[in-house]
Amino acid sequence: MSSKYHSPNMDRRSFVKIVTSILGTTMAAIVGLPMIQFFISPALNKATGDDWISLGPLENYPLDIPTPFSFNLTRVNGWERSSQSYGAFVLRQSGTDVIVFSDVCTHLSCRVSWDADQDSFFCPCHAAFFGKYGEVISGPPPRPLDRYETKMEEGQLLIHFQEG
Ligand code: FES
Repeated sequence: MSSKYHSPNMDRRSFVKIVTSILGTTMAAIVGLPMIQFFISPALNKATGDDWISLGPLENYPLDIPTPFSFNLTRVNGWERSSQSYGAFVLRQSGTDVIVFSDVCTHLSCRVSWDADQDSFFCPCHAAFFGKYGEVISGPPPRPLDRYETKMEEGQLLIHFQEG
């Protein structure tokens, strides 16, 4: 009777063992892979350091006067989270014609400030002066102040921030 369904290669017990193993492995993969991905994915996420930062409405900035703006960025690099502050100067020329300078000196990266009396940017580290348009007037800086790429979106001024 049972010989009709009897396989010469595999008995019922072996078949059940194989099917159970396959189902167990499949279930472990379904449950385990997302958990492994959850724990490993932060290490694969690198901070890009490439963002568009809103500086608010352009009308907030007076015409022809470099005006400071500062912002903080929080970076997540793997499991490490760090926050850093940055600065910029907005020089609104007319309408939507605007220049945004980095406040980092191009010599050794000290922060510059706007000196209204001198009508220039001043770097206190080595007594350097930059003109209103970022050009080097005196001191050791090898090049003008860096400028951010800008764009307007819904009345907001944005700068393209790239780290490094
Ligand atoms: S760091 Fe600004 S002049 Fe040296």
